[in-house]
Amino acid sequence: MALFEWRNNYTVNVAKFDNAHKKIIDLMNELHDIIKLKKDSHSFEKVLNELYGYTKTHFNDELILMEQLGYADAGDHKHEHEKFILQLDDIKHKLENSSNLLNVQLLYILKDWLITHIMGTDKKYSEFFNKNGIQ
Ligand SMILES: [Fe+2]
Ligand SMILES: [Fe+2]
Repeated sequence: MALFEWRNNYTVNVAKFDNAHKKIIDLMNELHDIIKLKKDSHSFEKVLNELYGYTKTHFNDELILMEQLGYADAGDHKHEHEKFILQLDDIKHKLENSSNLLNVQLLYILKDWLITHIMGTDKKYSEFFNKNGIQ
């Protein structure tokens, strides 16, 4: 069973960003599978690095658009993204020191963060982007 699935109410009404969120969910589900199927930590590390790179690019894409269009809350938004990257850094760091620390609890934290961020923070930009012709 997947860690979680995309739901229609997660939409931020910007297709490109919805697609990025779906991809991030896919990668988290892949990590979940790796743990559930007890695959080696190298497989986990590979997907974690992919998640890390992809998430950073997505965060950057959101912020670039916010800055280009003069979105007032860009600073706070950026700060939330940074906190999430720190969590990923922490997992990467733990993994380098001991693969025994791999557990689903880590993924529950990432999942909760992502849902809270999409529903509470990303959704705030929908109207602003839509008004500026971004859909
Ligand atoms: Fe996002
Ligand atoms: Fe965001």
